[in-house]
Amino acid sequence: MTKARLLRVLDGEAIARPPMWLMRQAGRYLPEYRALRTKAGSFLDLCYTPELATEVTLQPIRRFGFDAAILFSDILVIPHALGRDVRFVEGEGPRLDPIEIAHLDQLTVNAVLERLAPVLETVAAVRSELAPDKALIGFCGAPWTVATYMIAGKGTPDQAPSRLLAARNPEALDRLIETLVQASIVYLVAQLRAGADAVQIFDSWSRVLSPAAFERWSAGPIARIVAGVRAEIPDARIIGFPKGADRGLVSFVETTGVNAVGVDWTVPLATVRAEIGDRAAIQGNLDPMALVAGGAQLDDAVDEILDVMRGGRLIFNLGHGIVPQTPIEHVERLVERVRR
Ligand code: CP3
Repeated sequence: MTKARLLRVLDGEAIARPPMWLMRQAGRYLPEYRALRTKAGSFLDLCYTPELATEVTLQPIRRFGFDAAILFSDILVIPHALGRDVRFVEGEGPRLDPIEIAHLDQLTVNAVLERLAPVLETVAAVRSELAPDKALIGFCGAPWTVATYMIAGKGTPDQAPSRLLAARNPEALDRLIETLVQASIVYLVAQLRAGADAVQIFDSWSRVLSPAAFERWSAGPIARIVAGVRAEIPDARIIGFPKGADRGLVSFVETTGVNAVGVDWTVPLATVRAEIGDRAAIQGNLDPMALVAGGAQLDDAVDEILDVMRGGRLIFNLGHGIVPQTPIEHVERLVERVRR
């Protein structure tokens, strides 16, 4: 049978050669992406044009033969579908109108599926073009991370505006987070029904939260999303990526019930493996800068991950997204090394 290797690991198998894919594998380090991106107009236009988004999703699979494609879209399509203004400024990143507490009640989940119909169309198109031995990963942002962009209106180094709201008016933050939980459930269920084989929840900003705040605004809401999705699709495969959760990782796995957990390069992998045991697969955790540097140190860093995880359930990945200055030859070298 041709069951995708990624799905075998998510379903509980340890396999000798780990499946691999890279976060942000479709992006500016690829010349074919840059060419298509210029033609598409704005970044959001690219996300909402199924034909182009399908092509971009498949580009890294054609070039490197990764075991999984990840839907080409962005975590900020959710605030956009909730009616917020979202723009991507060239060279700067996302910009939103910071949301005011008085306006929280204007966010309604009703229109989310209708507004995100083009993304769901992309999911179906990619699945139909992808070989059966490749998995398709859908995704959304975790409520906390999406909330930080809605509150500050942009990325900030330590998410001070959102932490301030958490301290000053935790009930308001609870309301925003709950709206995002509901929107994420309908969106992920729709992606799985459209053809995604698994979904990943990106919590890129977990690390700025205190342990108690992490439980309340990161792990708790993600657990409610997992439960909400599985109420509709009991065997839904879900990867959680609480970046920087560090000492909170094991309790995150227990609280949320994810099939796999993404870890960044700052965690001691052997310890994490021992503590998580067979409760979840582990995805990660090469430093994206090791991939930029290349050479023998890249080989060593890759070998160390493979050695530590030998006999276990590893999904080989980076510890965060690939960066635009990454040389293509280093990605080729990485793929060869993992496949040896
Ligand atoms: O991984 C993939 O290949 C799938 C597509 C994907 C994108 N963004 C495409 C993208 C995914 C899964 C994301 C997730 C995402 N988006 C996260 C969580 C993961 C992480 O990196 O922490 C976050 C925080 C965002 C929000 C976002 N989108 C930011 C902060 C930026 C600007 C930074 C940058 O790299 O320019 C984006 C833009 C973005 N999203 C690009 C891509 C390919 C670059 C846009 C361009 O082509 O101009």
